[in-house]
This record gives sequence, structure tokens and C-alpha cells, in this order.
Amino acid sequence: MSDPTTNVTGTPPPAGEKPPTAITGAPAAPKPAAAAAKPAPAKGKPARRSVLFAIVATPFAVAWTTFVAAMGLMTLGTLRFLFPNVLNEPPSRIKVGFPDDYEEGKVVDRFKDKHAWIVRHNGVLYALSTTCTHLGCTPNWLEREQKFKCPCHGSGFYITGINFEGPAPRPLERWAISVGDDGQIVIDKSKKFQKELGQWDSPESYILV
Ligand code: FES
Repeated sequence: MSDPTTNVTGTPPPAGEKPPTAITGAPAAPKPAAAAAKPAPAKGKPARRSVLFAIVATPFAVAWTTFVAAMGLMTLGTLRFLFPNVLNEPPSRIKVGFPDDYEEGKVVDRFKDKHAWIVRHNGVLYALSTTCTHLGCTPNWLEREQKFKCPCHGSGFYITGINFEGPAPRPLERWAISVGDDGQIVIDKSKKFQKELGQWDSPESYILV
């Protein structure tokens, strides 16, 4: 067998030169086995999900969904016409207790959520509407200042409901008021009385106490 560090002439290669590669004719050493084949993606959920996604995302599916939604909205619109709104308005007549429950010179705002202040003033009981006559906000009764003050634009009203400051053009309105068969005060919000029209003179707009 020849020395791999010598050339074909049997002399060693000059210094600094790489020895030639041996030609042996022997079969090449087996290469390391190729990287193990990656495992095939497991069949099942992920594959099914992507199929479903493909179906849903197709333009046909999108168009169909849009069509069904449009038809649903049209049906709802038709039903809306068949069944018009039913107005569940609160009752216009409310009982607010007995005349003796009210103190002279006091404003009771217990019924403010029903849009009424009950006032006993100078021997008369009346129910003022809580709607500001400027633009419809709800004023507050300021006990210390003895006035109704609107938080929106500053209109002020005396205890009588008459306007005296701010942009409100006219007094607060009164609701119809009466004493029922059981002796209780009844406020009827289906009727309003306006001072500037002389309607506060109507006996329906106050109770003498
Ligand atoms: S709404 Fe009351 S002052 Fe404007």
C-alpha cells in the first residue's frame, strides 16, 4: 500500500503543499442518513378547520350570508309595520296625599319624577309643572333662596311659578288639581293652565285650603 503523504513518484510533496487526495477506488463512506422525514401533519381537527375556513371564506358563502341577513332585516321591517308601537304612557292622574299633609309656604318635590311640584302658598294648593318654559329643562327648588332655578340657562321663578330672571319668557305651568272622593289630592296632567292666558283663575288650577 502506498504512503498517502507521498506523490505518485514516491517523493514527498514540497513543503507548504497539501498532500494529494488518495485515489483508493474504495467505495465512498456512507453519508449520514438523510434527516428523518418530518412526520406528516396529523389528520383530524386542523385539517377539518382549514376546510371549513375555505368554505366559509368563499365569495359564494359571503354572498349567501349577506343575502340571508338582508332578507332577515326586510322581514323584521315588515313585522314592525304589522305591529305598531304601543304607547305605555304613565297615568295622567296621580294621587298625592291629603291637603293637611302640606305645610304652608313649602314646596314639595317628592313628585318631581312625575313632573309636578306641589306647593301650598297663601292658603292655596297648586301643582306646578317641572318643565322650564324656556327650553324645557327641569329647574331645582332652592329652599334658602325661595326660588326655582333652571340649571340650563339660569331662569328663575318665584314660589308662585312666575318667572323673574333669565330667558324664560313666561311662568311655569300648573296642572289641574282637585280633591277626590276619598279626600286625597288628585293631579291631572292631561290639563295645563297658563297664567299669561288668564287660566290660573280657573278653579281647576288650585285648591283653597
Ligand atoms: S331651559 Fe331653563 S333657562 Fe333655558
